Amino acid sequence: MNKIIEICNVSAAYGESEVLNQVSLTIEKGEFIVIIGPSGCGKTTLLKTINGLVVPTKGEVLVKGEQLKECNLVFMRRNIGYAVQGAKLFPHMSVEDNICYVPELENKMTGDEKSRLVRRMLEMVELPFELAVRFPRQLSGGQKQRVGIARAMAADPDILLMDEPFGAVDEITRKTLQEGLAGLWQKTGITIVFITHDIGEAFRLGSRIIIMKDGVIWQEGTKDELLRSPRDKFVEQLISR
Ligand SMILES: Nc1ncnc2c1ncn2[C@@H]1O[C@H](COP(=O)(O)OP(=O)(O)OP(=O)(O)O)[C@@H](O)[C@H]1O
Ligand SMILES: [Mg+2]
Repeated sequence: MNKIIEICNVSAAYGESEVLNQVSLTIEKGEFIVIIGPSGCGKTTLLKTINGLVVPTKGEVLVKGEQLKECNLVFMRRNIGYAVQGAKLFPHMSVEDNICYVPELENKMTGDEKSRLVRRMLEMVELPFELAVRFPRQLSGGQKQRVGIARAMAADPDILLMDEPFGAVDEITRKTLQEGLAGLWQKTGITIVFITHDIGEAFRLGSRIIIMKDGVIWQEGTKDELLRSPRDKFVEQLISR
């Protein structure tokens, strides 16, 4: 077994109010983890402890065996792609520059290298290369979403954190994006931690599903395990939607 993310007894708070209560979760390399639970239960906060955007008040997080609080976060984050709902692209940069942003930080690329990378990334998310010169305001919601994923993947990260990345797109685009992501995961062996509100999406994508409630992990398991033995009414309701 090859642990890539270890969340050990992590609590987190905003000011006085605690939103994570002693959460522990170990993720093996190559897992596709899906986190689901009611709004406000702490999903985004938990995800952000993995790339250091939220610092735990108690407990610790290790990524690839390194304690986040002791490592250089700027370097560590280049290994961790982060894609959020609405994609949050840099508005003043073209699609090409958005996609090349992180790889360029690592080493200067020639024009040729950039366009090769951009071509490969756009192909992966099934967008035409012609979009490379456009700015985010000239893209549809679904296209922005795809560019956001392409950007998160461009630095060839070992870990991809995704916070409701398909939340804002229509059903058909969502299906296509889900299939694309599942294919990518199988091809690359990347470790994915993915938040959703949609149990169908969770079952379709996750190799393991984490159900959160009120700042704790309420139950976890594969789709079959959860369907076979839900812990209580709460889980039953969540998975029967
Ligand atoms: N920056 C912040 N300052 C203060 N409170 C916050 C902040 N961010 C989140 N919270 C609160 O912490 C709790 C957990 O928030 P979090 O964003 O982790 O929930 P979530 O499970 O991702 O919810 P959603 O499904 O709505 O995205 C919520 O009660 C929220 O209001
Ligand atoms: Mg959230």
